[in-house]
Amino acid sequence: MLKDKKAVITGGIRGIGKAIAKRFCENGADVILCYRSNDAEAEKTAEELKQYGTQVHLLKGDVADPQTAVKAAAMAKELFGRVDILVNNAGITNDKLMVRMSAEDFTKVINANLNGAFYMMKECSSLMIKKRSGVIINMASVSGLKGNPAQVNYSASKAGIVGMSLSAAKELGRRGIRVNAIAPGFIETDMTSVLTDEQKAQAAANIALGRTGKPEDVANAALFLASDLGAYITGQVLSVDGGIIM
Ligand code: NAI
Repeated sequence: MLKDKKAVITGGIRGIGKAIAKRFCENGADVILCYRSNDAEAEKTAEELKQYGTQVHLLKGDVADPQTAVKAAAMAKELFGRVDILVNNAGITNDKLMVRMSAEDFTKVINANLNGAFYMMKECSSLMIKKRSGVIINMASVSGLKGNPAQVNYSASKAGIVGMSLSAAKELGRRGIRVNAIAPGFIETDMTSVLTDEQKAQAAANIALGRTGKPEDVANAALFLASDLGAYITGQVLSVDGGIIM
């Protein structure tokens, strides 16, 4: 489905990003995985993914730094001559009740989740525009659509992702570039492993399908949007949440 496509995936070495990278590689894409700090985990993921026979490259860098996006686009240009698919998946939480949340707690999450996606879209879309083709997928969250206590920083960043994706879709559509967001619900990854059993049970109680999600559930949606199966879909927020948003 993605034969010979060239993809950049931020936060692609673990959790949802790794599952997306795996689906992409299985389907023939060459990938650049951006990661922040864990060299050993990055190497391990790259080795795992290489078994699918496509190219897997690593780029270390903090997406909150605009230079990381500049480097990612330059790397894609040098290695592949283009970027076909950008997945802005890197994200963090720093949950606190608002009265205890410092300005830094707020800004750090916005910088990583929202500004980081903007920098990457800006740099990679300029390569896509030259080819008049491309797909951008930005990772939002159910938290950005309906809010969550102790997450004003995270919810703001993810609601921002939604608005930014819609504007970019309108701006880039006539250049052959589709922009969509995915809004996962409760997905079992390191990010959610910090929650207490009580919090997990509470979240699961509101899921129509009665189970929490797996990274692969999100990866399947990303594959659909990235491939030609999604060729007429842009400016959408696809909830992958087992019905939690209803
Ligand atoms: P995770 O914590 O397992 O993985 C996130 C990845 O992003 C890590 O590899 C991390 O190193 C990377 N990353 C974080 N900040 C970065 C930065 N500044 N620069 C470069 N890389 C950075 O998280 P998970 O669960 O896989 O989440 C992936 C995305 O899905 C995030 O955007 C998250 O907000 C979103 N999401 C996750 C949900 C869940 O239930 N797990 C629910 C809704 C959205």
